[in-house]
Amino acid sequence: MSVTLAFDVYGTLIDTHGVVSKLQEIVGDRARLFSQTWRDKQLEYSFRRALMQNYENFAVCTSQALDYTCAFHKVSFTDEQKAELLGIYRVLPAFSDVKKGLTQLKNNGFRLYAFSNGKADALEMLLSNAGIRDLFLGVVSTDDLKSFKPNPAVYSHFVRKSGASGDSAWLVSGNPFDVIGAISAGMKAVWVQRSQQTVFDPWGIDPTITVSNLLDMVDRIKPS
Ligand code: 2OP
Repeated sequence: MSVTLAFDVYGTLIDTHGVVSKLQEIVGDRARLFSQTWRDKQLEYSFRRALMQNYENFAVCTSQALDYTCAFHKVSFTDEQKAELLGIYRVLPAFSDVKKGLTQLKNNGFRLYAFSNGKADALEMLLSNAGIRDLFLGVVSTDDLKSFKPNPAVYSHFVRKSGASGDSAWLVSGNPFDVIGAISAGMKAVWVQRSQQTVFDPWGIDPTITVSNLLDMVDRIKPS
């Protein structure tokens, strides 16, 4: 059976720090730190909402995390500035290796899906804008279950919805928590270590393989 690849979106295909240049206009040198707090808080809100079973969609987590980040860094944005930043978030750019890497994998017979916390309509827009939507057989959102990664149910949902069999389904993610979540739920997983500075969580649950970008993957994934 051919291998099915579930690509995480934010932080793997799409660069969540694509907002930094806009942020520089508003917060200057603190833009990168501001962007990191925003991203960390967005994920924390998704974890907490999943655990509390108090679901609001990922765009709400993103918007509330932006408000938190402004308060934390003691900056105030106008409503227009906030709307502009959230607008940029909806059309963030893909990393430079992504289009070529996905094309290579598709041409080698892998079944490609996008699999994300984002709502399906937001994902369709993001991937279309980045010029990569047509490379995927489909888009699977954790919103279908009103929950978020790494709830094990969302990985099982992906396997079912994509028609993959458990041992031929691989997650591809730049987010260590996502890699650990997928492996714990019975998938295999590629960790895309986009920066040497990124540390993998020392839980004793290792990625099946580690690559530095999508161009390194094609010869490393073997059907089981
Ligand atoms: C995603 O699901 C976790 O942000 C990540 O796209």
